[in-house]
Amino acid sequence: MPTPRLVLRRPDDWHVHLRDGAMLAAVLPFTARQFGRAIIMPNLKPPAATAADAAAYRDRILAALPAGVEFTPLMTAYLTDATDPDDLAAGAAAGIFTAAKLYPANATTNSAHGVTDLNRIARVLERMAEIGLPLLIHGEVTDGNVDIFDREAVFIDRTLAPLLERHPTLRVVLEHATTQEAVDFVRAHADSGRVGATITAHHLLINRSHIFQGGIRPHLYCLPIAKREKHRRALVEAAISGEGPFFLGTDTAPHPVTAKESACGCAGCFTAATALELYAEAFEEAGALDKLEAFASLNGPRFYGLPVSEEQVVLERSGTVVLDLVTLPDGDAVLPFRSGEKLSWRFMGAV
Ligand code: NCD
Ligand code: ZN
Repeated sequence: MPTPRLVLRRPDDWHVHLRDGAMLAAVLPFTARQFGRAIIMPNLKPPAATAADAAAYRDRILAALPAGVEFTPLMTAYLTDATDPDDLAAGAAAGIFTAAKLYPANATTNSAHGVTDLNRIARVLERMAEIGLPLLIHGEVTDGNVDIFDREAVFIDRTLAPLLERHPTLRVVLEHATTQEAVDFVRAHADSGRVGATITAHHLLINRSHIFQGGIRPHLYCLPIAKREKHRRALVEAAISGEGPFFLGTDTAPHPVTAKESACGCAGCFTAATALELYAEAFEEAGALDKLEAFASLNGPRFYGLPVSEEQVVLERSGTVVLDLVTLPDGDAVLPFRSGEKLSWRFMGAV
């Protein structure tokens, strides 16, 4: 019997952290091997905030691509209290910006320069609505009195719902959705066509208990943090539904092992090394491999108004053992999600 294969249009990753310098060089080949395009997160140190920053970052990404690999980085603006609407609009018109990213100040890794109060960027948001530039949102409140597991649901109530009312034509993506509440909210706005959500592979595969299985597992710590099993199930159900607003965004977020395995370890799961295999694992477990293409390759481009890929890629059921470590030139390394474990599928590249 031939090895079962899964053929789908080349997918895109709508939420990626590629970092910069040696880390960029180490992790970019993984994303570029599987995905045709990716939305590149701007939370560098210092952040890529202006059109000039984003254009220079895009050049560094293109320069770091392995020879012969075709990959299109789609750049985002890191919104700050000081973002200039004219610079943003000019960057969008010049094809530099595909979207802008809202980090509530101090919500996550490298977000210290994020927006402190949405009222301060009201003019920026009005301009984005006018020109149709999507707002990508890290949807967690930063109020330390709100329990970490409730921060997304509270953000949706307190911030996102009023934001959509204030800006009735603004297009938004709730990035890395982790809760039933997020799924319900996105569905409630499905008819408007202006609200989407990315879902990561790790949030389809783990719940919050996995973070503490047999001890504390820093490599499963990310933000938003994984929630209860009922939320994981809601995310799986949304991802396999085929519904337009839900699409693939890995939020692959590499950190050196020394920064993860620390008394105050940073947030982020590095999934790029086997991103599609991980999604295939989750879809297969849900009996819905036939829905992977809509989620991975069709819904995202439609939301962003971009053409779907004409290229096809293959996954085989021969399996993959996830890399142990990706080494960095300074002697440190990045540990992939499910490092050393066997996954059922294997990404084979273009047909
Ligand atoms: C991201 C990072 O490391 O940049 N970390 C994470 O846990 N996802 C930031 C983010 O997307 O929140
Ligand atoms: Zn992210």
